[in-house]
This record gives sequence, C-alpha cells and structure tokens, in this order.
Amino acid sequence: MRLGAHFRFLIVGLALALTVAIAQPAAAQQINPTANAVKEQQLLDALRGNPSGEVQGRISIPDGTAATLIRPAGREWREFHQGTMLRVGAIAVLGMLALLAAFYLVRGRVKVEAGLSGRTMTRFNGFERFMHWMTATCFIVLALSGLNVTFGKAVLLPLLGPQAFTNVSLAAKWAHNYLAWPFMLGIAMMFLVWIKDNIPTGTDLKWLAAGGGLVGKGHPPARRFNAGQKVIFWSVVLGGAALSVSGVYLLFPAFAGGVLNLQFWNVIHGVVSMLMVAVILAHIYIGSIGMEGAFDAMGSGEVDLNWAKEHHSLWVADQMKKGQAGAPAMQPAE
Ligand code: HEM
Repeated sequence: MRLGAHFRFLIVGLALALTVAIAQPAAAQQINPTANAVKEQQLLDALRGNPSGEVQGRISIPDGTAATLIRPAGREWREFHQGTMLRVGAIAVLGMLALLAAFYLVRGRVKVEAGLSGRTMTRFNGFERFMHWMTATCFIVLALSGLNVTFGKAVLLPLLGPQAFTNVSLAAKWAHNYLAWPFMLGIAMMFLVWIKDNIPTGTDLKWLAAGGGLVGKGHPPARRFNAGQKVIFWSVVLGGAALSVSGVYLLFPAFAGGVLNLQFWNVIHGVVSMLMVAVILAHIYIGSIGMEGAFDAMGSGEVDLNWAKEHHSLWVADQMKKGQAGAPAMQPAE
C-alpha cells in the first residue's frame, strides 16, 4: 500500500516534468519575443514600421526602462555630443579669442584719458572681492575641466598620452563635481549683492548708443555698473542658474525623470557653458589688459578717481554727495 502510493507519486512527478520539458520551447518563444531582434535586419524592419522609432522588448525586472532596445533620440544626442557640441564650443571660444585679439589690435588698451589723479575711491569692499574671486576661481577650474570633457580627447590625449590623460581627466572630474557647489553659492551671492545696481535703465540705452566709450569717442555717463557690465552680470546670473539646474540633474541622474530629460539637461549644460566661457573671456580681457586701471577695482578694491569719473561719472557724483569719494592715495612714509 505504502509502495503503491510512492509509485503513484513517482508517475505523477514524471508526467509533470515531461509536460514542463515539452512546454519549455514554446514558453521561451513567448516570453522572449526579442530573440528575433538580435538579427539586425529584423531590428531595422521593426524600426521602419514604427512611427515613434523606438523598439521595445518585454522584460520581467522592475526597471521598466531596460525594455527599450533602440531609442533614436539617443543616437541624435550622441551625434550632438560628439559633433555639434565640438563645433559650438570651437566657434564660441576661438571666435571670441579672435575677436578680442582683433579688438586689441584696432583699439589698443583703453587708457585713463585724463591721466591718473593719485586720488582713489573704494569701488568694491572686501566681501564683494571675496565673493568675486571665489566664483571666478571656481568658474575657471569648472571651465577648464568641462572643456576637457568636450575637447580633451582631441587636444590633450595626443599631447599627454593615455595614462597621464586618464589621471588628469579623473582629477578634473572630481574638481568639476565638487567646485560646482561654491560656484553656485557665489552666483547666488553675486545676484543678491549686486542686483540693485544692475536693473536696466534709460541711461543704459544712451550708453549703448554711444558705443560705451569703447567704440567711438567720449565716455557716456554710467552709474555703478554700465550697460556692458549689466550684460555680464545677467549672463553670469542666468547662465549660472541654467548651469546649476542642469548640473545638479547631471550629478543626480535619478532625479532627472528619464534618459530623455537627462539628454536635454546635458545639451543645455554644454551649450550654456560654452556661451558663458565666451562671455567671461571678454570680461577677463576688459577687466585686465583691455583697460587701464580696471583690475584695481577687484584687486585692491580702490580705483583712481579719474578712472571712475571717465567710466562711471554718475556713480562718482552719487558717492561724492555721500562724502565717499576722492580720498588722496596713500603716500609712502618718509
Ligand atoms: C581672471 C579672471 C577675472 C578677472 C581678471 C576679473 C576682473 C573683474 C574686474 C576688474 C571687475 C570690476 C569691474 C569694475 O570695476 O567695474 C569684475 C567684475 C565682475 N566680475 Fe570678474 N573677473 C574675472 C573673472 C570672473 C568670472 C569667472 C566671473 C563669473 C563667472 C566674473 C563675474 C564678474 C561680475 C558679475 C562682475 C560685476 C559686473 C562687471 O563688472 O562686469 N568675473 N571682474
């Protein structure tokens, strides 16, 4: 009796195993419709008959995105990343450098026409200079490490060789990821501290119409920041905000809401950064070799009174009313 029960159990077990074995090939075809897809031609056929251009498979893991076999938007993004992005960057950066070199050759250094007066006034206090140089230092490292992502393989790799290029790129990536934070803080601080002096007014239109004293003759009046500097300010604030939002999504891709969004933010990050590098190159030029007396404003914080009168006459008048302009420059002790 006990033996009979065991025998029946064995027969049922064997029958079940046989059923599963026979059913297996059919089941495999059913749950793996993408087996055909390994053949390229069939994949291409699937693409052709599909208006969205996407080819999906069927999967049993929780991550639904893994079912996407082909997404044409990915190919477009790669073409942008490896082609268009290089052209945009090269035109923006090299174009701006060429423009500045031409401007320097034609216009020369913008001089203080009345000569230095020997009297100075405070243009930026210590906090403003700290905020500026913190943001500027971060931006320069971010720009160089970012440019390495776009141009490094073409420019640095042949110069350094694979090992050194790998080390440099790794260090650049860490610097880029961490310096993004003080840069964002600096942008926010600049926005809060300088916005009151950067609201566009009618004076800016007159300044622009007169060529800002850079092209043409004379020095059109300006308050603390002229129209050119307001353009720099708003480019830095709006460009910085776009770089911050897109950059945070690139740092934390899980929050971007899918691959397509991530590609969108990547394109924004790349294009805005190249434009901002071009704008900042112009800013660095005019704040250093392009204009006599300008660097002092961010160096010591004190500018010559004649420089201030020529470039920011309305601001000087305001400061004089407040009794804050025209202290004689320090004389050396005898
Ligand atoms: C070596 C690099 C740099 C130099 C030599 C430089 C120089 C200067 C100077 C001299 C000023 C004062 C202009 C004045 O007195 O009216 C200034 C202002 C300013 N800088 Fe820079 N800067 C540099 C980099 C940067 C960077 C990287 C940023 C932002 C990403 C930046 C943003 C600003 C802004 C928003 C202002 C106020 C608006 C203006 O004057 O254009 N600077 N800079």
